[in-house]
Amino acid sequence: MTTDRNKPHQPTRFTAADPTENHAALFSTIEQALHTQGYSVQHGALARHLAPSLRASLETTEQGLHLPAGFQQAGIGRQGSFSTNPDIRRDNTLWLENRNPAEQAWLEFAHALRLHLNRTLFLGLFSFESHFAHYPPGGFYKKHLDAFQGQKNRMVSVVLYLNQNWLPQDGGELLLYDETSSRKNSIRVLPTMGTLVAFLSEVFPHEVLPAQRDRYSIAGWYRLNTSSTNQVDPPS
Ligand code: OGA
Ligand code: MN
Repeated sequence: MTTDRNKPHQPTRFTAADPTENHAALFSTIEQALHTQGYSVQHGALARHLAPSLRASLETTEQGLHLPAGFQQAGIGRQGSFSTNPDIRRDNTLWLENRNPAEQAWLEFAHALRLHLNRTLFLGLFSFESHFAHYPPGGFYKKHLDAFQGQKNRMVSVVLYLNQNWLPQDGGELLLYDETSSRKNSIRVLPTMGTLVAFLSEVFPHEVLPAQRDRYSIAGWYRLNTSSTNQVDPPS
């Protein structure tokens, strides 16, 4: 037992998103960027309430940030083909559920964005899944696509960053490769609190450069429904 765990129960320090916060303008900015260039980077988009409350909710997990309770070493692939490969990625993940008001507010935000994208871009997004990711110092994720091989049903990826005061020398940038244009440039994003990135999962390879300090993010995916007569989606 640590002394922290013997402390009387503290009231939670986070609240749900500000109910007066109106995401309509943000949704339409994301939608237009996805439509014209396939990706969207919105600095500080959720820096006021949602991102800090998600970070705070993580800090209240049983053992705090240094031993994130419930985090597991991330793997590659799923089901039969799942494996951990520390040459490809070194991060720990924790699936987001509905454990507290912050997680609930994030899932509601993701749900509303899904409806907006379906209504405006006719994407037919069916479900959303997301996890927290913790990259310890030295953690990285090599260049990859988010759509699983043979199961190309991840359509839109979103990433939200949860790091206060992140400096360029802290590393850990997201590199998004735009290989659709002849310029083949890459976009570099610092994982700063509240920055929200969205991109088409099958189109943009990306990587996480080695972080020099603990780095927290949420990665999420909107999926299409791939049910067919002999397989019900999602697979059990
Ligand atoms: C991922 C991912 C990016 C990031 O988890 O698939 O690419 O910046 N994360 O955390
Ligand atoms: Mn990814």
